[in-house]
Amino acid sequence: MKKIIIAIDGYSACGKSTTAKAVAAALGYTYIDSGAMYRAVTLYFMRHQVDLEDEEAISHALQNIEIEFRSLPEYPCKAQTYLNGHNVEEEIRSMEVSRLVSQVSKIPQVRRFLVAQQQKMGKKKGIVMDGRDIGTVVFPEAELKLFLTADLEERARRRQAELLAKDQVVSLEEVKENLRTRDLIDTTRSESPLRKAEDAIEIDTTHITFDEQVEMVLRKAYHKMMCYQVAPCCPTKSQA
Ligand code: DC
Repeated sequence: MKKIIIAIDGYSACGKSTTAKAVAAALGYTYIDSGAMYRAVTLYFMRHQVDLEDEEAISHALQNIEIEFRSLPEYPCKAQTYLNGHNVEEEIRSMEVSRLVSQVSKIPQVRRFLVAQQQKMGKKKGIVMDGRDIGTVVFPEAELKLFLTADLEERARRRQAELLAKDQVVSLEEVKENLRTRDLIDTTRSESPLRKAEDAIEIDTTHITFDEQVEMVLRKAYHKMMCYQVAPCCPTKSQA
């Protein structure tokens, strides 16, 4: 079957990454968590106290940042994020990074730097990437675009549980406030704001189980993969 690009966008904590990971594993595709890349840059800026208003300092800092994803035998299903050769997977998920990441993601230089790397990763297709601008900016030609949504309350509960599983105790109100703030910054920034691509399929995950989400996405993916193999069965873009 022909390899495709699957772009998954949506608000924070809608289940994008868990869904994307499972879909990639089922298809034997590479999964790329683009949010982890913005988080890794944020961690570097925090550690080196980079002034977010200083364009020159930002350019200089970006030249010293190398982000990679590596699969380890102990985490076969979850590639770990490496910043300049060090595993930062745990640290980039902290609330400290979550508080600053939307500010860093607003910076045009940062976006240009990461989008170029993400586009390179998709050159050979066979990739599932999740984020905020994947279907609109990174891969506007992706064969399958999904836009996930869910109620804020439900999203906050899911994110709080994830943090708790990593021994980080954060109140539901604080998680909710963080999601609300990030949604606002992500959707209103001038540089590639979060928005649903015209040809993206919207999935509200509030009342569906994780298995249902994955199954739904896989069905759509197989349909596209078959369609792209036997081109005439595909509707044109305007019909899709
Ligand atoms: O997916 P996440 O919550 O880990 O992403 C962290 C932040 O990174 C999010 O608040 C916005 C930013 N981001 C972005 O601007 N563009 C992307 N493609 C992915 C993430």
